[in-house]
Amino acid sequence: MHSRACPSNKRAEAMDTRLRRIGTTAEQGMPNITYVDHAGTARTIDGQVGSTVMEAAIRNNVPGIDAECGGACACATCHVYVDEDWMEAVGPSEPMEQDMLDFASDVRATSRLSCQIRITPELDGLKVTTPARQG
Ligand code: FES
Repeated sequence: MHSRACPSNKRAEAMDTRLRRIGTTAEQGMPNITYVDHAGTARTIDGQVGSTVMEAAIRNNVPGIDAECGGACACATCHVYVDEDWMEAVGPSEPMEQDMLDFASDVRATSRLSCQIRITPELDGLKVTTPARQG
């Protein structure tokens, strides 16, 4: 005898599983980071707590972040614009980063070097945009 699950129950189970996964990724050290390129294409990846926004981009083949110096704060090719809603959570830049941003193009008030933004659980949902020059 076959037992058949009601399709709507199956959908609810699938949704429940998805929501459980979404709810636990940040707690398990995988906060979501969204990168938007200059053309408006968004890519959301699971970042790793303790790594940087630059490292998460490189690991996930996010275009627009070259990171030529490998995160040594010496190239400015990891320049991003932090979404204004996230500026406070990300926190201020250090003087060394500010000096290096002088070498980036089209610097704005929300400019940061993504290699200097450490991923924390509080940054789950962070959104950054890459400059056109790095696209
Ligand atoms: S990777 Fe070179 S400054 Fe960020």
